[in-house]
Amino acid sequence: MNVLLIGSGGREHALANSLTKSPLLDRLYAAPGNPGIQRVAEIVTLDLGDHAAVIDFCRLMNIGFVVVGPEAPLVEGIVDALEAAGLRAFGPSRAAARLEGSKGFTKDLCRRFAIPTAAYARFTSATQAKAHVRKEGAPIVVKADGLAAGKGVVVAQTVAEADAAIDLMFSGIFGAAGREIIIEEKLEGEEVSFFALCDGERALSFASAQDHKRVGEADVGPNTGGMGAYSPAPLMDAALAERVMAEIVGPALRGMKELGAPFKGVLFAGLMITSQGPKLIEFNVRFGDPEAQAILPRLEEDLLSLMRACAEGRLEERAVKLSPRNALTVVLAADGYPGPPKKGTEIRGLDRAEIMPGVIVTQAGTRREGGKLLADGGRVLNVTGLGATLAEARARAYAGVDAIDWPGGFCRRDIGWRANSPSQMG
Ligand code: AMP
Ligand code: GLY
Repeated sequence: MNVLLIGSGGREHALANSLTKSPLLDRLYAAPGNPGIQRVAEIVTLDLGDHAAVIDFCRLMNIGFVVVGPEAPLVEGIVDALEAAGLRAFGPSRAAARLEGSKGFTKDLCRRFAIPTAAYARFTSATQAKAHVRKEGAPIVVKADGLAAGKGVVVAQTVAEADAAIDLMFSGIFGAAGREIIIEEKLEGEEVSFFALCDGERALSFASAQDHKRVGEADVGPNTGGMGAYSPAPLMDAALAERVMAEIVGPALRGMKELGAPFKGVLFAGLMITSQGPKLIEFNVRFGDPEAQAILPRLEEDLLSLMRACAEGRLEERAVKLSPRNALTVVLAADGYPGPPKKGTEIRGLDRAEIMPGVIVTQAGTRREGGKLLADGGRVLNVTGLGATLAEARARAYAGVDAIDWPGGFCRRDIGWRANSPSQMG
């Protein structure tokens, strides 16, 4: 079967690596892809917003399955268009992608189907939102309703900070995403990312991970797309995973079906493990980046076959075969990130890292020019280490990082620090 993979990040490079191992795969195409993905797939230039063009390409190249990596094309309805044309795809419909595309929609779903989450209220007026903040007091969390590239959430420590966040969100900088805001209770605990494969009816617990969202060591500084991740999350034991499936994933799946928008694809639950148990912070409707780079190398079965079962509504209720090995991914970002990154600096020595045992390098914002590999984005490379323990995985990942010669980039040296600290279960 020929497969088209949509996306260009480290997550998609990890997806491409896994798809390439499938005995079902004939040819893998990727749009827009990147120089790393190009090693295992044929790169194609497609306007992903032009669904008719994507469908034409699929027909021309006899594509039997489309894998959509990022959220934006899902929220824009690419899966609906492909399915209407008789093509199969991994990912939710536009209606089901509202789980990520609208925080208000998800909060209302939680309320209706008794999914544990932070208490909240929705607002379209700054005056009413500010009155609510006065009533509730700080700390409090202010969120833009729609997709805001990870910048639409402010955890305000004071009422003044919350007011400023409300004004910012209604200022128009987030466009339509900021027409409505959510104000919610601040949850306390440790965050975990939990992934379940879904076929509209059934869900299969897939894997857990923890990521590091802040740019600075010890989790300080501005939020990023993610500076590193490790899998499994040490605090996600079998009992907690079962609770997440029963209290969060299961009710969400039943709820979406009842609302006429059954969810197919991978459901990514961002959780806070509170003293009262797991609570939902947010849903995403795709794999995490960089979580996927840590999770997918642990998969010991055919990803393409699992994805097809999701799309075709025939997921078996069983355990996914995952290696007990630990994986830890360090993100290398270009100087300037998460602000405007410096582009065009040369990266050397990837081959040195790639031949190290238990090290996998995936590319994100890179480009090739005249035989050189250049930085071309914010998050540029991911180095994943695999090991029997998290400490071993981390040592391998950083050995890989140190083999790479890229003066124009930086990484956090403390990925996985929480997993070692005694407050882990706190
Ligand atoms: P989100 O984009 O919804 O994942 O939010 C980004 C980050 O803000 C999360 O990963 C949390 O660290 C934090 N956050 C969001 N909502 C809450 C909440 N209700 N309580 C505490 N922290 C939160
Ligand atoms: N690493 C978080 C995300 O993919 O949303």
